[in-house]
Amino acid sequence: MSVSYMTHPLIKHKITLLRKRSTGTGEFRKLIEEIAMLMGYEALADLPTADITVHTPIEETIQPVLNGKKLAVVPILRAGLGMVNGILALVPSAKIGHIGLYRDPDTHKPHEYYCKLPESIDQRQIVVLDPMLATGGSAVAAVDFIKKQGGTRIKFMSVIASPEGVSALMKAHPDIQLYVGCLDRCLNEDAYICPGLGDAGDRIFGTV
Ligand code: PRP
Ligand code: URA
Repeated sequence: MSVSYMTHPLIKHKITLLRKRSTGTGEFRKLIEEIAMLMGYEALADLPTADITVHTPIEETIQPVLNGKKLAVVPILRAGLGMVNGILALVPSAKIGHIGLYRDPDTHKPHEYYCKLPESIDQRQIVVLDPMLATGGSAVAAVDFIKKQGGTRIKFMSVIASPEGVSALMKAHPDIQLYVGCLDRCLNEDAYICPGLGDAGDRIFGTV
């Protein structure tokens, strides 16, 4: 598995603002969307293109356009939803799947409650979205599910990851490409990322 850590100062700046306890719901949502867009720009740099003929007001020319089946964006519910519009700003025609997982608060193990992917998933570039990669349990389960449905070309985008989460995902799915906004220090006893940003789903949806 290849892991890419984001180095762009805009991404770093926005992740720092995201972490602040004082960042309210509206600003948090806007930041996570902007970060997803900036990370998406990097993660989608190898999308395939094909040449077509276009007529400019001046002359006929052969130029590249995106080629192949439309991208499948797959947010892990709930928090991954906060990143979807950032990717759609880049690729408005992308198809969207959903994987519903929540972590049991005691065991920290993921529980699946909803899964629906776009058709012909085996022929699409898939981008899984989840802002937090903590133990890695949710990420591993989501990629397991996508592979069972036939998905093969899988990129995973996470805004903040723990070393434990990156290792778990690398071990379980060495063939995927992982994009991490920032690698944090460790997990605490409740399996929250330190320093992290708290509970991403709650901060996006204003539920606590
Ligand atoms: C969060 C986060 C990930 C998961 C990461 O979701 O969005 O999906 O935890 O933790 P893990 O790497 O240890 O599995 P959560 O279960 O809190 O659900 P929510 O998005 O509905 O709030
Ligand atoms: N899920 C979150 O939302 N935050 C964490 O730090 C860990 C899991």
